[in-house]
Amino acid sequence: MQAGHFLNAKQEQRRLSMVTCYDYTFARLLARSSIDGILVGDSAAMVMHGHPSTIAARVEMMKLHTEAVARGAGDKLIVADMPFLSYRMGWTSALDAAHVLMSAGAQAVKLEGVDGHEDVVQRLVESGIPVMGHLGLQPQSIHAFGGYKVQGRGDEAAQKILRQAVALEQLGAFSIVLECIPAPLASEVTAALRIPTIGIGAGAGCDGQILVLQDLLGMNTDFHPRFVRHFLEGANAIVDALDGYDQAVKSGSFPAVEESYT
Ligand code: KIV
Ligand code: NA
Repeated sequence: MQAGHFLNAKQEQRRLSMVTCYDYTFARLLARSSIDGILVGDSAAMVMHGHPSTIAARVEMMKLHTEAVARGAGDKLIVADMPFLSYRMGWTSALDAAHVLMSAGAQAVKLEGVDGHEDVVQRLVESGIPVMGHLGLQPQSIHAFGGYKVQGRGDEAAQKILRQAVALEQLGAFSIVLECIPAPLASEVTAALRIPTIGIGAGAGCDGQILVLQDLLGMNTDFHPRFVRHFLEGANAIVDALDGYDQAVKSGSFPAVEESYT
């Protein structure tokens, strides 16, 4: 799957599935799945490194995760997040950051918002770098947004998101993530665009969906917002396995003779 195939999928009314991934082992599993695309999200800062927000992500961090994913992802589309401020200090430094991520194995980059960095989106696209937008809840702006809450409620806020989505399409973005906006607004944005929308907490009217891998695998029992479905109770399964190992070690049943060298 390539960025260009996203447009075909929308034209042919095929829904797109994406998940985040940050490491080689999971990338190998995703490569075996029918998932369409992988996002090396800056949520790595939280999920992999334990930071309280994505603001801690850096180009170097995204580079290491992108390289690891690329080694295992086979022919899956890999989109890498441009981290906090890396596209807000002019297009030359933004191109430097994108250069690092593309050299690390990304086939596209994603950045949040559009107002004030239209030139960056345009330069990236003109340089042959497919750009994914990200509107609605923008986690890198969490301090300005005042928390992780639904965006685009009310006419003015909804019109702003619609305007930004149209702007991104006109600047050449190949797709847009819509995060935590009312489902009717996401459907309206989706209908207004030629490029596919990928929703997270944005209802079923988007052209595709994305979830954080560890969320859909149920790895974090403390984090279960409305928009996350657990397709596995991963945390319980893993803790049970660890306790099974612990008991086997302590009872002396592990390792068995056939697990030992003669
Ligand atoms: O970093 C991330 O995980 C994301 C998705 C939530 C879209 O940007
Ligand atoms: Na992100």
